[in-house]
Amino acid sequence: MSRCLIEVGLRGWTWHPTRVARALRARETCVLVAQTEIADVRGAVAGFAIAEFGDTKMHLSLLAVQPTHQRCGIGLAMIDWLIESALTAGIDHITVEMRANNFAARSFYEALGFRHQQYIGGYYQNIEAAIRMRRDLLQTATLSEYRKTV
Ligand SMILES: CC(C)(COP(=O)(O)OP(=O)(O)OC[C@H]1O[C@@H](n2cnc3c(N)ncnc32)[C@H](O)[C@@H]1OP(=O)(O)O)[C@@H](O)C(=O)NCCC(=O)NCCS
Repeated sequence: MSRCLIEVGLRGWTWHPTRVARALRARETCVLVAQTEIADVRGAVAGFAIAEFGDTKMHLSLLAVQPTHQRCGIGLAMIDWLIESALTAGIDHITVEMRANNFAARSFYEALGFRHQQYIGGYYQNIEAAIRMRRDLLQTATLSEYRKTV
């Protein structure tokens, strides 16, 4: 999913199975999988997220939802789950980077209360720029509370 939905068009592929397996084993990393409930394909992976927990910051490394399952609230549900975990862990903000031309992801994160923090030229293999976004957790605790305010 990372190769096809996130790293598509970049030279090479950095989130190969060994790297994901390493993330699964790392104590500070949370790997989340959303499974479909649709009969016939029940249990198939509909989406996933990989996030690293620090002392005060959670960094979202990857998040993707299968195209057939997008705009059904799965991405939102995964972020909600991660925010609940981050709050429990005493974390006060979340950061995420995405390709600067990934307007769908930017709209998604903006809808969830993330704000533009930084433009980073050449972030991806010195070719493509990234946008870093950030969401502070202290002002508005949970995502459902935040969504009620917008
Ligand atoms: C970005 C992504 C994870 C969103 O997941 P999703 O499950 O489709 O998102 P949700 O259904 O939870 O959307 C929640 C809200 O975000 C916003 N949103 C989501 N996708 C959007 C899009 N393509 N365009 C505009 N707004 C969007 C909407 O406000 C949406 O609420 P609504 O459907 O009630 O209008 C998904 O599009 C994806 O996997 N993209 C490819 C991989 C990627 O770019 N990952 C992010 C970089 S790491």
